[in-house]
Amino acid sequence: MMFKEAVCFDDVLLKPQKSNINSRKEIDISCILDSTGKRSFRLPVISSPMDTVTESTMAITMIKSGGLGIVHRYNSIEEQCSVVHNIAAELEEASSSGINNISAAVGVGPDFLQRSRALVSSGVKILCIDVAHGHHSLVERALKSAKDNFSSGITLIAGNVATPEGYVDLSSWGADAVRVGIGGGSICSTRIQTGHGVPTLQSVFDCRDAGDAAIIADGGIKNAGDVVKSLAAGADMVMLGSMLAGTRESPGEIYSSTENKHYKIYRGMASPEAQIAWRGEARSLEGVSTTIPYKGSVEEILSNLHRNIKSGLSYSGARNLSELRARAVFIRQTSSGLGESKTHILAK
Ligand code: XMP
Repeated sequence: MMFKEAVCFDDVLLKPQKSNINSRKEIDISCILDSTGKRSFRLPVISSPMDTVTESTMAITMIKSGGLGIVHRYNSIEEQCSVVHNIAAELEEASSSGINNISAAVGVGPDFLQRSRALVSSGVKILCIDVAHGHHSLVERALKSAKDNFSSGITLIAGNVATPEGYVDLSSWGADAVRVGIGGGSICSTRIQTGHGVPTLQSVFDCRDAGDAAIIADGGIKNAGDVVKSLAAGADMVMLGSMLAGTRESPGEIYSSTENKHYKIYRGMASPEAQIAWRGEARSLEGVSTTIPYKGSVEEILSNLHRNIKSGLSYSGARNLSELRARAVFIRQTSSGLGESKTHILAK
């Protein structure tokens, strides 16, 4: 049997190219999430719909910073709608155009339509159909039902998928944007527990040019370089969990150790801890829960990302994301190349 090779973020680098860009100010990293262009963003970054990443404070900060935050679905309909209300109140007071980018996740269970309707009535404009294995008839049913029940003013994200077949199907079932990546997340154990998955970067390469929906690279993005690689490979936006978790704006307590170090919890939504918290029992074991050092404000992480993504474009001589995609030249690096790529003086 022939096996297809699949590359992940650390296997590749982008070749620096001739540039005539004099300042990062000449670079525009804005993006759109739907073909009509009504959902546009200054920063191509989305915070994950996870209970240790996105509730109201994170969503507001993401929107104000030019990105998107998707409110997680692991609570009652009333609780999730009250999170959405808080975002809408705050953005209304700030007279922010971000009011058009309020987003929340829904599952495909029996309460799909009831929850979706309640969220849309509360101000959600971007619904995210959020399941682990998105290439599924239940997602087809949910997308078609959303198309039948909501106006074209509601943008639909769906996922996750790992293959072009999944991406094309979700696009044809009505998704404006598709989350691409299975098993690559920092807290995922899907590949270990089920043997299934595709490296996220490879999935993005495979899906690019296969359909019309926007591509959201999701899972395993650990630094700004991985963001730039995702965008160069064909993603319109990236979704981040671990990079934004452990911040002031992520939900959850700050814990202190005896050495006075500060931590927050970051957990996979399929971890036993998360499942017990939201449905009272652990039915599958495809994620882990951990503590991560407290990082302070997410705003600083986002402004560093903004700067570093722009620097990334300038190395490829690209003024915007479509030029990056067109100009990008990827090369494979060896494992010793990866060692050289990391800051290695500290290893001495
Ligand atoms: P990062 O690497 O940014 O990944 O921390 C976040 C993404 O991981 C997905 N996710 C999970 N995948 N088991 C999984 O296999 C889980 O328990 C789990 N929880 C989240 C999700 O796509 C998220 O955006």
